[in-house]
Amino acid sequence: MKKLFAKKALRDLVEESNHHHFKRVLGPFSLTALGIGAVIGAGIFVLTGLAAKEYAGPSLILSFVLSGFACIFVALCYAEFASMVPLAGSAYTYAYAGLGELFAWIIGWDLILEYSLASSLVAVGWSHYFVKLIGFFSLEIPLWLTNDYWTLSHHTKALFIQNIPYIKGIPVVFNLPAALIIGVITYLLVIGIKESARFNNIIVVVKLSVILLVIFAGWFYVKSDNWGNSWATFSPFGISGIGTGAAYVFFAYIGFDAVSTTAQEARNPQKDVPISIIASLVICTFLYIAVTAILTGMVYYKEISIDAPLADAFTRYGLVKIPFFISVGAVAGLTSVLLVLLMSQARIFWAMAKDGLLSERLFAVVHPRYGTPYISTIIVGACVAITACFFPIEEIAKLVNIGTLLAFCLVCAAVIILRIKNPQHPRAFRCPFVPVIPIMGIISCGYMMFRLEFSTWLRLFIWLAIGSIIYFAYSRRHSKLAKKHALMEKQKDSLVELDKGCF
Ligand code: ALA
Repeated sequence: MKKLFAKKALRDLVEESNHHHFKRVLGPFSLTALGIGAVIGAGIFVLTGLAAKEYAGPSLILSFVLSGFACIFVALCYAEFASMVPLAGSAYTYAYAGLGELFAWIIGWDLILEYSLASSLVAVGWSHYFVKLIGFFSLEIPLWLTNDYWTLSHHTKALFIQNIPYIKGIPVVFNLPAALIIGVITYLLVIGIKESARFNNIIVVVKLSVILLVIFAGWFYVKSDNWGNSWATFSPFGISGIGTGAAYVFFAYIGFDAVSTTAQEARNPQKDVPISIIASLVICTFLYIAVTAILTGMVYYKEISIDAPLADAFTRYGLVKIPFFISVGAVAGLTSVLLVLLMSQARIFWAMAKDGLLSERLFAVVHPRYGTPYISTIIVGACVAITACFFPIEEIAKLVNIGTLLAFCLVCAAVIILRIKNPQHPRAFRCPFVPVIPIMGIISCGYMMFRLEFSTWLRLFIWLAIGSIIYFAYSRRHSKLAKKHALMEKQKDSLVELDKGCF
């Protein structure tokens, strides 16, 4: 039991962060851009449509406020940790210091849902927008090269799909654009963080320009009647609808924590990482609220499109150029989300491997020339590409949310525990009003978790059960902390024996 909850000493973590494993090249601007790059993506460009139509109506604006507040509480906790322990492992590392090894493993395992599974989803969204974009140039890719088998058979309403190639009776259906974009991004991440950050900065500018275009151009087409004239018409699904909407569009906020995974590449992590986490989140929250207000003001919520809500809102008014720019922005926006999510996943695996919980030979090798965790990056890229190519992943979007919400709750709890256990440890950034803010974080994230269906909870338990098997079969036996503690116990025993011999 003691081993399961063994914690890493904060001074050891700070010592570790002083050994430069990666190149320190990121300043506050690049870090904030990384945050925005990770956050604005499929959530706002795609999921808003379904959330307004099915869950919240025009009051989706309040869902974004609710989700945004929850994330700001959590971001303040992340910021305190990032300033105390500026290491690549993010929430995983924080949990190791605050809650012990088993919780650290649970979070690390859980973050695979946040980073890898979300990447697969975003890659599929990217592929759909890419198809839309090349459609403006009258180019087309066959359906069997832009879908997985299950999605295609669902569309065609037949298990045996005609007009697609078969090899020895096996249908050839996969999402080629999704695989290609993941391949390109994996390559960029292998050749170096500096190059990746520069690429990300350009994309973030394009994405923000398109979001601002939606807000300013859309303003002229808003009809206040679409927002409803009473509370009942503004919030047709009631308070619970706002909560369910928040739990669904929470996906749009995922990624702000990715900034903390690059702490070892930041020039001044203790100051810049907390500022960048909070800055990127506040900017995105304002933009989301504005975009949702415009969208639900332009189109009556029941008529909002599910596939491309923002572009279609302008098409309705006979506009052609703006939907084109929105598609460009979505393709660019989703690209930067992928870039940051994939980068973060490789760094979390790196941190876990350094602690012995994953194979060090696979996940902790840093490229001698590029200074990046290249094998880990390639493994992550390959797994995400395979998932995006062959699996119907839309169904499990909620699994990404529930997994991330659980990780956020644990991070908030870890802040409170460390304030009690290590009150003297230097904190360049202190989360205000502890324990109120972390408790508010736990309550708001917990509330959104409870708004998700039973089937989503079941999937989460299955995922955690698989993680526990791996932990007890491999990680616990290879844990460096456990080995260190075992050695110390042995030395203590030998000293006791020696004492007995002397007297
Ligand atoms: N927040 C990211 C998105 O919306 C994951 O695509």
